[in-house]
Amino acid sequence: MFDQYINMFSPPPLGVTQFTGDIKYVQKIIKENQFESNGGWNSISNDKCILDLPELVTLKTYISDFVHRYVLKVFRINHKIDITQSWSTITNNGEEHPDHFHVNSYLSGVMFVKSSEDSPPLSLQNNIKVPTISLDLFDGNQNLPQNEFASVTATTFSVAPVEGSIVLFPSLTPHGVSKSKSNDERIIIAFNTFPRLPFGCKNETNLVMSRI
Ligand SMILES: [Fe+2]
Repeated sequence: MFDQYINMFSPPPLGVTQFTGDIKYVQKIIKENQFESNGGWNSISNDKCILDLPELVTLKTYISDFVHRYVLKVFRINHKIDITQSWSTITNNGEEHPDHFHVNSYLSGVMFVKSSEDSPPLSLQNNIKVPTISLDLFDGNQNLPQNEFASVTATTFSVAPVEGSIVLFPSLTPHGVSKSKSNDERIIIAFNTFPRLPFGCKNETNLVMSRI
């Protein structure tokens, strides 16, 4: 037997890092904000550029540096990526956030600000499986253990909401939060990013720049 199974393509990886600053201070600043409830969904901060608060300047720099390292490591590009909008959500018992993705953004991220062991995870959906595999042969019975191709066959990847951890993923990756069964609130900061103009390659005719 000379079978080979060679991985071809996969989505950009999930970036994960841990905030080493004072998470209790971040919790305090976030809790001072106004939140609006969203009819069964989690509530969202009125401030949609929350990382621009002067009290969070250290955190914003920390996240920006991580985004820069991600792009350098994954795409081998040394380019400034700006955090565009950023907001906070609070998920209480019985609340959820249905699957969605973020338009007008390059990479999106979530920082877990406050959680407990039974807080719901962040669930990311495999959005390259559907365009590549037309048939699903799974009959409801899992008769073999997962192997090294789990990242190909899995439909969902769950991220535990560890306080202080920051995750980064392509903005078009669908993601959501299942209904919370926890009696403790779950607080996150979410953010979008966009490459600073100009970017692209003039000779490849894909340069993006301001024409003002
Ligand atoms: Fe989101």
